[in-house]
Amino acid sequence: MQDLTESQRAGDPPPAQVDLEALVAERTRDLTKALEQKTALLHEVDHRVKNNLQLISSLLLLQNRRVTDPAVKASLRGILERVSAIATVHRRLFQSDDVERFDVSAFVRDLVSDMMGTSGREDIRVRLDLERVDVAAAKAAPLALVISELFSNALRHAFPPGHGGEIFVGISRDDTEFRIEIADNGVGLAQPTTASGFGLTIVQLLCQQLKARNETSSADPGVRVVIHLPVNGAH
Ligand SMILES: Nc1ncnc2c1ncn2[C@@H]1O[C@H](COP(=O)(O)OP(=O)(O)O)[C@@H](O)[C@H]1O
Ligand SMILES: [Mg+2]
Repeated sequence: MQDLTESQRAGDPPPAQVDLEALVAERTRDLTKALEQKTALLHEVDHRVKNNLQLISSLLLLQNRRVTDPAVKASLRGILERVSAIATVHRRLFQSDDVERFDVSAFVRDLVSDMMGTSGREDIRVRLDLERVDVAAAKAAPLALVISELFSNALRHAFPPGHGGEIFVGISRDDTEFRIEIADNGVGLAQPTTASGFGLTIVQLLCQQLKARNETSSADPGVRVVIHLPVNGAH
């Protein structure tokens, strides 16, 4: 009896340490609770953004069904495609472990499978060579829109009905820049090149915003566009 009490006493931490442990435990509880609240809030925001994007898409679809003018229909379809690219960006960001980094190659895989799925063009093959490249979340939507416009152009303009071919998307990086290439072996740009439409205007504007350089050249046959995004500008 005597011995047990002695050893218990010997094992007791000094009073100051007890206080410290209690404090740490309390602080840990507070922090855990705060983190849980933040996580719940993030899920809530994710949900609301997703629902709102879905709502916008539905409105565009409904409006598209009501109009008959082919030019208006094409514009609405274009906007629908852009909203859908933004929704894919959002899904990619919120599904990943890191909401602040955007995996460009993963996005490209999603985009290509979505667009090829809706195109119904089984005569067009897609070849991908994608290195893992992460950019800051703030750059995600503009970069995704640029890629979406260029891929959609290759899909829509390079191959007239009955003439299939290949679209290539490559992403790589070196010490100074990320390089995003979208090339097709289709009909090529009309010569002399006519004034660009809304899609290519968006590409120019967003590249300026991203401080990226874009080069369009003949892929012989077809069109090749390369986007050079400075690595520093990507963060
Ligand atoms: N990959 C391509 N192959 C052939 N022509 C293209 C390609 N990309 C763009 N073009 C031509 O450039 C034009 C302008 O493209 P864009 O500005 O995206 O407008 P839109 O796609 O709405 O016509 C297209 O209408 C098309 O004639
Ligand atoms: Mg276009």
